[in-house]
Amino acid sequence: MPQQISPSLRSNIDSFIAMDVVARAEQLSRQGEDIVSMAVGQPGAPAPRGARDAAMRQIESGSIGYTSAPGIEGLRTCIASHYSEKYQVEINPQRIFATTGSSAGFILAFLSMFDEGARIAIPSPGYPAYRNIIRALSMVPVEIETNPQSRWTLNPQLLEQAHEKENLDGVLFANPNNPNGTMLERESFAALLKCAEALGIRFISDEIYHGLTYTMKEACALEFVDDAIIINSFSKYYCMTGWRIGWMIVPDAIIRTIDRLQQNLFICAPEISQIAAQAAFDGIEEMEAVRQTYVDNRQLFLERLPKLGITEIQPIDGAFYAYGNTSPVSDNSMELANEILDQCRVAITPGLDFDLKRGESWMRFSFAGDHQRMNEGFDRLDHWLARR
Ligand SMILES: Cc1ncc(COP(=O)(O)O)c(C=O)c1O
Repeated sequence: MPQQISPSLRSNIDSFIAMDVVARAEQLSRQGEDIVSMAVGQPGAPAPRGARDAAMRQIESGSIGYTSAPGIEGLRTCIASHYSEKYQVEINPQRIFATTGSSAGFILAFLSMFDEGARIAIPSPGYPAYRNIIRALSMVPVEIETNPQSRWTLNPQLLEQAHEKENLDGVLFANPNNPNGTMLERESFAALLKCAEALGIRFISDEIYHGLTYTMKEACALEFVDDAIIINSFSKYYCMTGWRIGWMIVPDAIIRTIDRLQQNLFICAPEISQIAAQAAFDGIEEMEAVRQTYVDNRQLFLERLPKLGITEIQPIDGAFYAYGNTSPVSDNSMELANEILDQCRVAITPGLDFDLKRGESWMRFSFAGDHQRMNEGFDRLDHWLARR
C-alpha cells in the first residue's frame, strides 16, 4: 500500500503566476501557435559574445567541475573592479559570492541573518518570489503597500510605520523595482538605508536591474552603508537568465556563515556560468546596444498601453516592465490574462502575482523582447479589443 504523501506546511506557497503563464505559452508554442510574450522578465537578446565563447572553450576543454563555495577568484575580482569603477566603492573580493542566480542569494541572505518567525518587510507591489521564499523558510513576509503618494515605492515613513506596528527584522528592497520599474532617487534611497540602520532593521538590497535605468542613475546601497547585503545577477543587464548565475556582497561578519550555507545548500554556482559571467564584463558595448532597444520599447509601451484603455502606468524609471491599471478593461486580471492568451496569443502577467490585495485590477507587461514582436503584440491587442 503506497504511503500517503502530504506536503509540508511551509511548502504551501503560492505559485509564481508569471512562470505558470510561461508554461502555458510554451505549451501553445509547441502546438504551433505563434505567441508574443510580454509575460516574463527575460531579455530577448543572447548573452555577450565573449561570454558564450568562454563557455564554449570550457566545454571543449572537458573540465567543468565544482569550484570553491564563494566562486572562482577571477570572477570575484572582476565584480570587485565593477564596484570600484561604477560606484567608487572598494570591496574586498572575499566579501563576494557567486550564486546560482540572485534567487539563491535570497535564500543565503535570509538564512544567514534570520531565524524562524523573523519578520521581513517587502514592498507591494513587488517581486512575488520574495514573499514565497520568506514563507517557505518559515519566516514572515510583511508587505508594505506602496501608493501614488509614495510614488509607488518604499520610503522611510512607510518603513517606520510598519516597524511601529510590529517590529521588523529585515527589509528587502529592489531599486528599480519589479513589477513597475519604479526607483527611489539617490538621496531618498540613502534616507531609507539610514532609517533601516537606525531602527536596527537589516537591509537586503536587490540591485538586479542596475544598468537598466532611464530617468535617473542608480546607486548601490554600499555607497551609503557598510552592512547591507547586496544581491545582484547576470540575468537581466547581461541577458543570462538561463545560465543561473548571480552574486552577493555580504558584510565581513557573515562571510564564513554564507560560506558554510553555500557549501551545504548549493556547493557552488555552476563553474561554466561563472567563467562565462567573468567574460561578460567585456561585453558592455553589446549590452548597451541591447539596453537601447529597451529605451525604444519603453517609449512604445508608454504610447500604446493608454490607447488600450490602461491607466495609472506606474513610473518606469528602470527595469523592463510597465505595470498598469487594467480595470477599465476588466476587473479580473487573471481572467483577462487567460482571455488574451487564448484569443490573441499574447502572454501577459496578471497583477495578482505582485500584489495579493490590489492585483486583480493590474497587469504587468514586460518589454524585454524584440521591438517588432512587441509592436505585433499591440496590433493584436488593438484588434481584439475593437472586436470585444
Ligand atoms: C526583482 C527580481 N529579483 C530577482 C529575480 C530573480 O532573478 P535570477 O534568479 O534570475 O537572478 C528577478 C527575476 O525576475 C527579479 O525580478
